[in-house]
Amino acid sequence: MLCRLLCLCLCPDPQVDLRDRHALVDIFSSHRFEAVIHFAGLKAVGESVHKPLLYYDNNLVGTITLLEVMAANGCKKLVFSSSATVYGWPKEVPCTEEFPLCATNPYGRTKLVIEDICRDVHRSDPDWKIILLRYFNPVGAHPSGYIGEDPCGVPNNLMPYVQQVAVGRLPHLTVYGTDYSTKDGTGVRDYIHVVDLADGHIAALRKLYEDSDKIGCEVYNLGTGKGTSVLEMVAAFEKASGKKIPLVFAGRRPGDAEIVYAATAKAEKELKWKAKYGIEEMCRDLWNWASKNPYGYAGSRDNSK
Ligand code: UFG
Repeated sequence: MLCRLLCLCLCPDPQVDLRDRHALVDIFSSHRFEAVIHFAGLKAVGESVHKPLLYYDNNLVGTITLLEVMAANGCKKLVFSSSATVYGWPKEVPCTEEFPLCATNPYGRTKLVIEDICRDVHRSDPDWKIILLRYFNPVGAHPSGYIGEDPCGVPNNLMPYVQQVAVGRLPHLTVYGTDYSTKDGTGVRDYIHVVDLADGHIAALRKLYEDSDKIGCEVYNLGTGKGTSVLEMVAAFEKASGKKIPLVFAGRRPGDAEIVYAATAKAEKELKWKAKYGIEEMCRDLWNWASKNPYGYAGSRDNSK
């Protein structure tokens, strides 16, 4: 069942731009796909503020083209990577899937619009079976140390930044905001191990097949349900790596929420999925990847020469 699955972001060959309708049509004519996991999209919040049209074009046009080509080929099962960004600055926590949604930047708006597009597509044709997964903050790497995050340029997110400080690529971490109403004044997020996140996709696919008659367009949070502050995360990483992370304290980053973490009951009950790993394992596996590949994939290729 799962082998005929189009995995558009991880599959190195064929690799196409989703906006390239001809290339996509070619792929669908040479394989029969039963389901698609759609992870493809631009994801840097700051960049989206400066280049909104790039984000609307890439994320929205890419998704619309994909849905059209899927429909034309009778492939109507989809798992889409949405994001906890759609909760904005939540009035309370944990965030349940029923919370009001909002977008605070063009990147977030693309997630919100794609969720709405999926709901409309399902309403127009109930043969579509769609699961929207709202990721909280993915962290870590595969425990093998062979697969990890390798951001282009200076990382925007906390743990990729910490990782580059630990290997000496960046001098210090800037902590954005020390005056939040949280345990230590720094922002609180729900960090989730990437392996747990990957398992959440398998659970979602299984649901699309096993409960096909009951599923329409459903949304699930993928988080641990636990909130961790920036300083707690840094301390866990220092413990796992044995490296001291120099800190510089600064004001709040514009657009940042104070506390965001997931309600996990719906995913636990309906997907039968629950995160297994905590921040210790996330930091252990992140350090394993970072220490083996301090310059990411390009560095590994150089080392093997
Ligand atoms: N932070 C720092 N210094 C940094 C980077 C981040 O102090 O250099 C802090 C932030 O202020 C925040 C926390 O670390 O309190 C987490 O920030 P991230 O940038 O790692 O993550 P965000 O929660 O801001 O956003 C991430 C993704 C979004 C996604 C969202 C889902 O970047 O794409 O999680 O909740 F939508």
